[in-house]
Amino acid sequence: MGQGTPGGMGKQGQSGDRKQGDDKKEGRKFEPPAAPSRVGRKQRKQKGPEAAARLPHVTPLSKCRLRLLKLERVKDYLLMEEEFVAGQERLKPHEDKSEEDRTKVDDLRGSPMSVGNLEEIIDENHAIVSSSVGPEYYVGILSFVDKDQLEPGCAILMHNKVLSVVGILQDEVDPMVSVMKVEKAPLESYADIGGLDAQIQEIKEAVELPLTHPELYEDIGIRPPKGVILYGEPGTGKTLLAKAVANSTSATFLRVVGSELIQKYLGDGPKLVRELFRVADELSPSIVFIDEIDAVGTKRYDAHSGGEREIQRTMLELLNQLDGFDSRGDVKVILATNRIESLDPALLRPGRIDRKIEFPLPDIKTRRRIFQIHTSKMTLADDVNLEEFVMTKDEFSGADIKAICTEAGLLALRERRMKVTHADFKKAKEKVMFKKKEGVPEGLYM
Ligand SMILES: Nc1ncnc2c1ncn2[C@@H]1O[C@H](COP(=O)(O)OP(=O)(O)O)[C@@H](O)[C@H]1O
Ligand SMILES: [Mg+2]
Repeated sequence: MGQGTPGGMGKQGQSGDRKQGDDKKEGRKFEPPAAPSRVGRKQRKQKGPEAAARLPHVTPLSKCRLRLLKLERVKDYLLMEEEFVAGQERLKPHEDKSEEDRTKVDDLRGSPMSVGNLEEIIDENHAIVSSSVGPEYYVGILSFVDKDQLEPGCAILMHNKVLSVVGILQDEVDPMVSVMKVEKAPLESYADIGGLDAQIQEIKEAVELPLTHPELYEDIGIRPPKGVILYGEPGTGKTLLAKAVANSTSATFLRVVGSELIQKYLGDGPKLVRELFRVADELSPSIVFIDEIDAVGTKRYDAHSGGEREIQRTMLELLNQLDGFDSRGDVKVILATNRIESLDPALLRPGRIDRKIEFPLPDIKTRRRIFQIHTSKMTLADDVNLEEFVMTKDEFSGADIKAICTEAGLLALRERRMKVTHADFKKAKEKVMFKKKEGVPEGLYM
């Protein structure tokens, strides 16, 4: 469009000239018109520059502004699209080429590939490798392998026939284990725990102090405990305390649930335990937290099915790791269970996990504190009297109290009230107690 205008202007000048010439030769015989200066579409009637600048007449006027904006947006969009399409066309041959290269590399690698170990690097392009089959080979390294990442001992991919190195296997840490590492500290801190002061003190002494001040234990001449086991009724804050430890410590925190250690395949469970402690050692100082340990640590009985035997083997490996044939000074273990009586006594004998920390149901003072913690962010009506629930004779765990608070909040929400009333709490309590008697798992409220 913009390019059209100068051309039009030029044409206009020409036609003006011709007109002058015609004026002079007036009265002459008819001549056939000169050959057309251009072919193609008929020349449009020329307009002056002002005409080009003038806005076309559009009605109704009031809507034009909006339409303009809209069209501008469409134009922007189209421009973007045009750019995108142009970019696509520019990039495409490139992509094709790299795709070609990739298939070429894949061809060179061949498949299947075998896995081997790099024993020694001889020069830029040659190395000695060993494969699982046995002998060692002197082989070439293909040019596309990143030489910077090659180091003796690392796992490599080899061509299935000529055995030359065609790739590198990076991480040999079991992905399951790297999942266990708690990267982001949990939000719960010691301040979120109501009561349990003695328990907090004990876990700090047994787990954190040996990691931060090992010299204290050395001075006294005792070996710090290897770890602790937290036990007590469900919902009394065992997992919560472990989270608080993870939150406050700067040591690596590895978290596993007992059931995760039970694997389907023969030998995988013990291997996972070994791997877990190996990683813990590698990343030490570290804390290993195994929740719901009763899944693995149950008393040994005559195991008939393969699955039970697998659980036992996992358990034995756990004991073995706790004994620590090679001493692991900087790894502490926290176990947690609801049913300590079903645990294998071997797990709890002195020298392994000898610190047992009991989590009782909260007493009146603790209940008050837990209610405070869980209602601190709620908007309560003036008539709420939490003392009534604090002093009640029913047995509550910390999780029950949390459930009551949440339930009361939900009841208020259902009626779109901004404040939670005493009646809400009453109803919530009844509901929670009722569900508890029915044996609905409390986990549903967490
Ligand atoms: N002492 C406590 N102080 C504050 N909240 C608690 C306490 N005990 C339990 N809770 C609440 O109950 C929930 C469940 O507790 P949890 O630690 O998972 O129980 P368990 O002992 O079965 O592992 C926690 O998330 C927490 O909100
Ligand atoms: Mg728990």
